Amino acid sequence: MKYNVKDLSLAPAGQLRIDWAEQQMPVLRLIRERFKKQKPLKGVTLAACLHVTTETANLAVTLKAGGAKVFLCASNPLSTQDDAAAALVKNHNIPVFAIKGEDNKTYYKHIHSCLDAHPQITMDDGADLVSTLHTKRREQMAEVWGGSEETTTGVIRLRSMAANNVLGYPMIAVNDANTKHLFDNRYGTGQSTLDGIIRATNVLFAGKNVVVCGYGWCGRGFAMRAAGAGAHVIIVEVKPLRALEALMDGYQVMTIARAARVGDIFCTLTGDCSVIRGEHFKVMKDGAIVCNAGHFDVEIQKDALDQLSKSSREMRPLVKQHTLANGRRITLLAEGRLVNLAMAEGHPPSVMDMSFANQSLAAEHIVKNHRRLENKVHPVPAEIDEKIAALKLKTMGVKIDKLTKEQEEYLASWQLGT
Ligand code: ADE
Repeated sequence: MKYNVKDLSLAPAGQLRIDWAEQQMPVLRLIRERFKKQKPLKGVTLAACLHVTTETANLAVTLKAGGAKVFLCASNPLSTQDDAAAALVKNHNIPVFAIKGEDNKTYYKHIHSCLDAHPQITMDDGADLVSTLHTKRREQMAEVWGGSEETTTGVIRLRSMAANNVLGYPMIAVNDANTKHLFDNRYGTGQSTLDGIIRATNVLFAGKNVVVCGYGWCGRGFAMRAAGAGAHVIIVEVKPLRALEALMDGYQVMTIARAARVGDIFCTLTGDCSVIRGEHFKVMKDGAIVCNAGHFDVEIQKDALDQLSKSSREMRPLVKQHTLANGRRITLLAEGRLVNLAMAEGHPPSVMDMSFANQSLAAEHIVKNHRRLENKVHPVPAEIDEKIAALKLKTMGVKIDKLTKEQEEYLASWQLGT
């Protein structure tokens, strides 16, 4: 079996962490039990480009239990948990191509290694696998039945491909399922971003001015948690509606030019490029900490920071302090890559439970329906989304009410008024 991981001797430690995550992924466990019996993915080759974490390991094991031949590579050069990767290879015979800290060339070599398996299904977090297939290996596209996409940035890329009529096979936008983005993007990113910044720096949030760039689901999740830790939260947005929501949620809203002068900790979660630029670094306070929790490392202009710097030093792993010509020190975390995955462990398992339940059921949906699906970006079917919400509640021991017959009739009628 071909694979490329850092060190197979990390497997026992990785397995313990995979088991720890599994305990907090009850919905995925239920799906795995059914998959074991029914084998809905029997004989299917599935290439997945995801953050290689203990939660992803549980997804890979579930897909394999369903009968798939799973190949896994990283969706970010810094997010791989080498012990989890080793355990997947050694204990589960799943080929993994991922090493934390891999360079760009190796990152793409690993994507090609997964595509060498000639998948019928692709599973992406950020659409790098899909885009590599569409640009470098077009001859393979006819073999693919469908794919799924985990994250907002990836779905945006896929929609752009569909709009330009270049999408070669149907896609399921897992990100857009309610049981995904309302929980993973909000509570997962919220908590893990705070966790990443704290693990990296041991900085106190209480009393700090925390600037959150972007008030989508990820931004509002992080804003909520930063406020909970006692920070004064400032939101930077470009959409009037979101800015208004942020204001009425109780935060200050201002431009990045103004926020740059007052912020102590900056985090970008926009999905767009060049949010924090040279002109902003120039006016930042001494000691400012800057990081990103958006999918790609394009949100902070790292080159501009390098150019403005007289010197720099690595204070702690992936914590780089720059001294500017004006004498002020600005610290960049994780090279501007996903701070929650590079400096902490990503979203906690109990939230990835729902995201990866969606991924598993999306794969099953592709197997069952690929002949009928057009080459478009499709939602996760509402029945799947609702089923996952119901199962999650059940596993949490929470019961909810049902509508009475009278209530159902009332909702269905238009004649009844005052
Ligand atoms: N994305 C964010 N957190 C993650 C995790 N723990 N595992 C896989 N993908 C993630």
